[in-house]
Amino acid sequence: MTDSPVFREPLHVGRPNIGSRARLTERLEGALDRLYLTNGPLVREFEERLAEVAGVDHCVAVCNATIGLQVAAKAAGIRGGDEVIVPAFTWVATAAALDWIGIVPVFCDADETTGNIDWTKVEALIGPRTRGIMGVHVFGRPCEVDELEEIAGRHGLPLLFDSAHAIGCTYKGRPVGGFGTAEVYSFHATKFVNSFEGGAIVTRDAEFAERCRELRNFGITSAGEIRSGGTNAKMNEAAAAMGLTSLEVMDSLMEANRINHGRYEKGLDGLPGVWVRGQAEGERANHQYLVIEIDAAVAGIHRDEVHTALIAQNVLSRRYFHPSCHQVEPYLSDPARHAPHPLPHAEALAERVLALPTGTTVGPSEIDQVCDIIRRCVSARTPAR
Ligand SMILES: Cc1ncc(COP(=O)(O)O)c(C=O)c1O
Repeated sequence: MTDSPVFREPLHVGRPNIGSRARLTERLEGALDRLYLTNGPLVREFEERLAEVAGVDHCVAVCNATIGLQVAAKAAGIRGGDEVIVPAFTWVATAAALDWIGIVPVFCDADETTGNIDWTKVEALIGPRTRGIMGVHVFGRPCEVDELEEIAGRHGLPLLFDSAHAIGCTYKGRPVGGFGTAEVYSFHATKFVNSFEGGAIVTRDAEFAERCRELRNFGITSAGEIRSGGTNAKMNEAAAAMGLTSLEVMDSLMEANRINHGRYEKGLDGLPGVWVRGQAEGERANHQYLVIEIDAAVAGIHRDEVHTALIAQNVLSRRYFHPSCHQVEPYLSDPARHAPHPLPHAEALAERVLALPTGTTVGPSEIDQVCDIIRRCVSARTPAR
């Protein structure tokens, strides 16, 4: 006998937000009327708005964050064969962006609580070929920025942040986006602020921004000369139209996510071995990812079994991030090069985390039902106390 799932329609992680369709259509019509389809006035406007959000003077919009990370790395003077220290616990794009242009990602372990790069382990990884450090604000929780800036400064290394998850968040009350040499946002369709596909490099450094602009456009300078090898990383006008429209509702989306976060916390409260990952105390968080951890030794059930049970009920949870980056190719086959030290916390996190549906399409009763499914999974396994 097959029971019908709790949810008739699937509940997704990362359902796109569109904002006002009328505003989007108006912007798209404007681009069509102007016959200006890429890298035009809407992109400039999006860059201005993003610079405001990041609290910086310079923003360079790009076609996606992966290419944005490459442009930022090149603009920071990092070349093929150089090593960059990156966290092992992140989406694989952080490392792949570098690897794809011949830069060697060297993985650092995670801090178990924050999920971010463990800054206390960074220095031990710095060697003769190290040319940069890249932090990731995992699930929007800011890295230990001050400590990383101090280490990078002392070693004369550029510090880049993959801020794909972290627009709208703060570190010590200042917006994420203004730290290190530069930060890179993602506006992929599944991000809570999206531009269909897109990204942006934000920085306080005018010269750095200028280099990024050149590299984004085949290495062509503002004077129209080709100075260096570049790529095509330009954002198009349709993407900027969506980005601007999406940005207009950013605050209300953050509020909806925050309320959902509280509802999940309440719904799973007291369940042994299961907890909702928190955000930094006193900081503004976008809560775009609702991630729980399941400690199998306490809960009596492994994360993967809960994941399977949720999927059977049409709750399309995601194992973000599993496996840890150093456990996938091409890095797995060459641990001496990519993961010279043990990475127990990144591996443990990769076994425990599970992203659950949130956002404006997920209501309180749905959250209660998702929590109920998880409760039933765990209660079936944990001995009565
Ligand atoms: C941490 C992280 N870095 C980089 C990226 C890549 O972003 P994009 O899809 O815009 O290239 C993502 C995308 O999901 C991500 O989660």
